[in-house]
Amino acid sequence: MPDATATMTMDKGLDHTIIGESTKSFIDGQKGVLEYVGIDIDTLARSSTFEETCFLLLNDRLPDAAELDAFTARLRSNYDLSDRMWAAVAALPPEAAPMHVLQTMVAMLALEDPDCDNQSREAEEAKAIRVLGATPAIIANFDRLRRGLEPVRPRGEDNVATSFLRMLTGETPGEASAKALDVCLILHADHGINASTFATMVVMGTESDMYSAITAAIGTLRGPLHGGANERVMYMLQGIGGVGAVEDFVLGRLSRKEKIPGFGHRVYKAIDPRATYLKTFAESIAAETGNEDLFRMSRGIEEIMDAQVGEKGIHPNVDFYSATTYFSLGLAIDLFTPIFAMSRNAGWAAHALERFDDNRLIRPRCQYTGPHGAPYIPMDER
Ligand code: ACO
Repeated sequence: MPDATATMTMDKGLDHTIIGESTKSFIDGQKGVLEYVGIDIDTLARSSTFEETCFLLLNDRLPDAAELDAFTARLRSNYDLSDRMWAAVAALPPEAAPMHVLQTMVAMLALEDPDCDNQSREAEEAKAIRVLGATPAIIANFDRLRRGLEPVRPRGEDNVATSFLRMLTGETPGEASAKALDVCLILHADHGINASTFATMVVMGTESDMYSAITAAIGTLRGPLHGGANERVMYMLQGIGGVGAVEDFVLGRLSRKEKIPGFGHRVYKAIDPRATYLKTFAESIAAETGNEDLFRMSRGIEEIMDAQVGEKGIHPNVDFYSATTYFSLGLAIDLFTPIFAMSRNAGWAAHALERFDDNRLIRPRCQYTGPHGAPYIPMDER
């Protein structure tokens, strides 16, 4: 029989493969456009809320007031954790990476859900909303516990951003900080079939369950080529030490063919519109919180990168200025990627459910390049 792979094309990073239809987000990588269900990201960042954006992504339309209230109430009814979950967060090693903590605790949500094996669309959506609601309490309270502080339970009247910051600090956040985080959550909520979203689709494609899909996505987002880049950006800025050292640092890295975290994107060859928004944001928050040097270093890196590799389409991506923004908000560096996950839960769920509605098992092939008919050599003869 002829080898079927002979008629197939090799597409190692799936850059040239469209794996289905989607109504969730539109990206024009040449013009630097991002829309969620047709609405420009800049408009959403200025006018929407994270809760409304979640509804939009899940339902392909904006809610009316009653629908938004009902959705928000449903989300908030999932904020708190069970006693067993609280005990589990407290039992985790304090030195654990928060992304691993999040992955573990989302898997634990599955253990507690009597509907885990209910594969109806309603049940899968309910699981997604459970994860979306519970994630802030998991991340914030793991951070509190590792700092030797008592946990803080979520309050039903807070939106996601306020709830997260209140649990993290134990205090009511300032309006500006809560708004800043809310906007960051909107900007990170969806982005087409990026690597972690693809992971959810692979899992849902096997008719597994939403918890399994999201734990796979969390593990995927963690990588430094994907969401993990925001933490690397911050470590890089701290390592550079000061504005005066930026040029040598960047040129040195480029001459050694090392990448600069927070730059480049598989789809965007113009500036990432999320980065444009976050840049303005990072500047004002850095100024308010005395982190001007961080912003100046970031600008310096951007200018040198533009001169050196701008022509190749290498520009700041969403992770570059979100690092300064989160740091200026007083967030621990290893919480940057979990916060990304807190938001991207929405996009993961939206795409996973879209796939659920029109499923086909994802099963690519590879070109086998190994031997055939190889002998099995007994152990004592090897
Ligand atoms: N710094 C310097 N040069 C870069 C960078 C960078 N950050 N990114 C790409 N390049 C260069 C490559 O060296 C390569 O140059 P060459 O053609 O001379 O060999 C060229 O640009 C193409 O790079 P690839 O890695 O092949 O592009 P790809 O589409 O595979 O990569 C990726 C996209 C993985 C995001 C890459 O730009 C990168 O590693 N960036 C740094 C990590 C990062 O910020 N990731 C977050 C992405 S956004 C997100 O996931 C939320």
